[in-house]
Parts: sequence; C-alpha cells; structure tokens
Amino acid sequence: MTDIKTEYFEHLNKEDKYKLAYRNIYNLLDGETDLIANMANTVALLKEMFNFFWVGFYVNKNDELVLGPFQGPIACTRIAFNKGVCGTAASTQNTIVVTNVNQFPGHIACNEKSKSEIVVPLVKENKTIFVLDVDSEFLDHFNKIDQKYLEKIIQLFA
Ligand code: SME
Repeated sequence: MTDIKTEYFEHLNKEDKYKLAYRNIYNLLDGETDLIANMANTVALLKEMFNFFWVGFYVNKNDELVLGPFQGPIACTRIAFNKGVCGTAASTQNTIVVTNVNQFPGHIACNEKSKSEIVVPLVKENKTIFVLDVDSEFLDHFNKIDQKYLEKIIQLFA
C-alpha cells in the first residue's frame, strides 16, 4: 500500500507533485480492476496531495452523468450531457479548463465556494466513460500542467 506523507511532497512544485501523484496512482491501480475502488483511491490521493476543494468522478450511465467517488462537500448527483462544465466535457469529449466558473454559460454551482474548475473525460471507442471533475475555491487555479497530468492519470483507467 502506498504510504503518502505530507513531508514527502509539500516542498514540491506543481509539476513534480503531479509526477509523484501519477506514480502513486499507478501503483495504487496496479493489479486492481475494480473501478469504484480505483476511483475512490484516486480522488483520496489527489485530495491528500493537492488539497483540492472538490475532486470526484461523474460516470456515464445511459448518457447521463451520475456522481461517483469524490472528496469534498456534498455535490449534485446527476448532470445531463451538455449541461454544465461536466456535461460539456462529456459530450465534446475534450478537457475543459474554466478559469472563472461565473463566466462559463450553464455552469452548475453545486457549491458556491467553487471558483474555477477542470473537467477531464475518459473516452473509449468514441464513448465517454466518465469525467474527472476538480474544483477550486480560487480563481484561475488550473492550467496546462493540471490538464497534462490529470489527462495522464485518467488514462490509467483506459
Ligand atoms: N460545476 C460542475 C458540476 C459538478 S460540481 O462542481 C461538483 C459543472 O458545471 O458541471
């Protein structure tokens, strides 16, 4: 079992922290095929290492996104494809980085403290399987580094 201790990563810059997170998640998922268990440990690790306000999965069930494992405040349980940042990422099958959620038309405010957001979809054979949603209480919190490494982490589920 991967043992994460704060002193091992609190001094690292964002990119190095993501590299360590990737290695840890790779190890956590290695040999385990259960999707819920893997999602649960992934969000726990991301929360632990980055202290994100909210980090969690929404899973595609009959073309509707349903809340999966997450860390953070209680969230909306169902999101339609095309609705909000999550639904838009799910239907366009592209990562979406939102620097200010109030400027994203149709943004769904599960929690008013959330100010910026990144949503990364996992697409297999043209189908969106799930999205990973990360929310921050700070404006403009996510950039290309978050996108690069969260996409890499999500590919561990492919
Ligand atoms: N803000 C998201 C909804 C999910 S919560 O933030 C956890 C959206 O607009 O899709």
